Amino acid sequence: MMPRLIVTTREGEERELEGEAGLSVMEVIRDGGIDELLALCGGCCSCATCHVHVDPAFVDSLPKMGPDEDDLLDSTSDRDATSRLSCQIPFGPALDGLKVRIAAED
Ligand code: FES
Repeated sequence: MMPRLIVTTREGEERELEGEAGLSVMEVIRDGGIDELLALCGGCCSCATCHVHVDPAFVDSLPKMGPDEDDLLDSTSDRDATSRLSCQIPFGPALDGLKVRIAAED
């Protein structure tokens, strides 16, 4: 069974997606047809339009944030302690059941 990713859209709708191993969380969301996550740079960590809020229960299971991601998140208006760029999070079985909420648009 593929690991599941639970996404809350900006309208508050909860969608459950299945994620192929090897994709990033951003790619799982995009492939799931949720196009409000613009991900304009395609995952090269240079746009911040893939900003999500991660369920606090999972924050510690994620790879640590790099300096580029940190700088980009500083340029967003909706940053808080749960903010991540979803293209920088590899999805896989260890994150089964991960919940993310799409951040406000800048
Ligand atoms: S898709 Fe551009 S930073 Fe993630």
